[in-house]
Amino acid sequence: MWRLLCVLALVISSDTMPKKYSGIQLKKPVTPRASANRLDANLVQPTHYALDLTVTKDDLENKAEFSGNVQMTLTVGKDTDSFQIHAKDLTFSTVTLTKSGFSGVITTEGPDTDDIVTIKSNQKITSGDSYILEIQYTGKLSDTDMDGFYRSRYTDDDGKTKYLATTQFEEMGARRAFPCFDEPSFKATFDITITYPSTSIALSNTQPKADPSDVGNGLVKVTFETTPKMSTYLIAFIVSEFKCVSGKNAADGTPTEVCGRPGTEGTFSVALEAAPAALDTMQGFTRFGYASLGNKKMTQAAIPDFAIGAMENWGMITYRESDLLWDENQSSNYDKQIIFFTKM
Ligand SMILES: *[C@@H]1O[C@H](CO)[C@@H](O)[C@H](O)[C@H]1NC(C)=O
Repeated sequence: MWRLLCVLALVISSDTMPKKYSGIQLKKPVTPRASANRLDANLVQPTHYALDLTVTKDDLENKAEFSGNVQMTLTVGKDTDSFQIHAKDLTFSTVTLTKSGFSGVITTEGPDTDDIVTIKSNQKITSGDSYILEIQYTGKLSDTDMDGFYRSRYTDDDGKTKYLATTQFEEMGARRAFPCFDEPSFKATFDITITYPSTSIALSNTQPKADPSDVGNGLVKVTFETTPKMSTYLIAFIVSEFKCVSGKNAADGTPTEVCGRPGTEGTFSVALEAAPAALDTMQGFTRFGYASLGNKKMTQAAIPDFAIGAMENWGMITYRESDLLWDENQSSNYDKQIIFFTKM
């Protein structure tokens, strides 16, 4: 629902808004792919991902890299000795496929120009069985295109450049953060764990299961609650020094919060007011229960470098700052309307 209405809002805004907002880019039109370039949904389906990501201070400030491990639980629909997944700009170090009684040796091929990696086994992968595909890898935090798991920056009050790592996965960015079945019909649940500098916070689609635990070397680790069954393009996570302020609960009890750069908290008020109101209104309008889809919170985060107006990730909507933050001394009533408008 967020997607449709958000896109609608952007479409309308591009026609009717004054010049100031003509910078809002519409999502790129997607060229339909030939079926040969799509993953075979009858062959292998993911049901669950356990994704473990690490972003160190050096990764964030200097190397613009991250490392990851993903364990995908797969259900096999047909006997095969190979299947395909998506990955882009990731370097795999180990790939294993496991099931009790299975000892196939795995090799990979690709990615090809459609970001498709072929996983090959020298022993039959058998239909009806559940396998775990585990991939250890590294990736790049992009500095240039605000897509995938990318790096954004701002200047703090002391004039120091601060970096954050954040995501934009629609339409095909998830494959740049973790190997996955990156088509919307391949829905699964996700357990996301992030290891990050203790001076930062980590945010994702769901609430942390527990407080972050110290893992040494100035790093802490947090695991988020299992997501609802969902598409990869709606996954999101942020490692930043953001400050979050809680707002009122929506009528269905969903807690809301707004997060942004330290020092911007004074500009959260309109977003804090709009969030529960928008959730209530949208649920009435669409007749989809937000909580009944498995969502237990609503975070709205303002990202310093953001390609579009807003992105409707489940549980954590990301925005460009001008579409979320409202400064009583600098913003206009028109800007306030835009904040409500983008939400709807
Ligand atoms: C707006 O200006 C007033 C008076 O200078 C100040 O108290 C307030 O904090 C400012 N608001 C923001 C969001 O900076």
